[in-house]
Amino acid sequence: MIEIKDVSKIYHVGNEEIEALSGVSLSIKEGEFVAIVGPSGSGKSTLLHLIAGLDKPSYGEVVVQKKNLALTPDSVLSKYRNRTIGFIFQEFHLLQHLSILENVKVPLMFASHEEKASHQKKATELLEDLHLGDRLNHRPNEISGGQKQRVAIARALINAPKIILADEPTGNLDSVTGKAIIDLLKKVHKQKKLTLIIVTHDKEIAKAAQRVIEIKDGKLVTKNRPTRFTN
Ligand SMILES: Nc1ncnc2c1ncn2[C@@H]1O[C@H](COP(=O)(O)OP(=O)(O)O)[C@@H](O)[C@H]1O
Ligand SMILES: [Mg+2]
Repeated sequence: MIEIKDVSKIYHVGNEEIEALSGVSLSIKEGEFVAIVGPSGSGKSTLLHLIAGLDKPSYGEVVVQKKNLALTPDSVLSKYRNRTIGFIFQEFHLLQHLSILENVKVPLMFASHEEKASHQKKATELLEDLHLGDRLNHRPNEISGGQKQRVAIARALINAPKIILADEPTGNLDSVTGKAIIDLLKKVHKQKKLTLIIVTHDKEIAKAAQRVIEIKDGKLVTKNRPTRFTN
């Protein structure tokens, strides 16, 4: 489903070149749960952004569902980001001036007229599923970190994406809350048959995944091992 072929990413900062990824090749099957681990600055977020179509590689190809993202027109790419991908950030990225319910509805802005009628219901049901039914009209600053991340998960799920990308989703949470978030993502992965990719530098979290991919200095450390379907 996701094919990363000999991908390098070079950032230019002033006269300096930073090679964030260097010749990375990787293939992820539909329905897999993969953890990407590695020290800070090793290129994990860069890799996730390339898969999300938020950025393009300097060399190599990122092919998702047989689409080479670099060759995909912007209009199709926006739809891909909105419909195929659900992105979860370490810092939640909720809009502070919107209610919880409105935050979850943000990705629905491109929906058709007919779809709009069911938005309220869909967002409410999703939040109820995530035990936030009594917080719909609260603002992000009125809920806890774990609740904020659950809102962000609801927002990521609202368009029924095929792929969830989570960039250190527990990085701003205490370990108990973090574990609950990982358990929730595991549950969602299983129920909705999603492809789940979690970036983390917590080895414990990585253990929850079917496969662990290690990155160091922009290169893969562990070679692709066969997938273990344990859950
Ligand atoms: N937009 C950017 N401009 C310049 N350098 C960047 C940018 N994003 C990341 N980098 C650099 O690329 C390298 C990899 O960064 P990143 O992918 O964020 O690593 P990680 O997520 O593993 O901490 C780092 O050296 C970082 O400073
Ligand atoms: Mg990062």
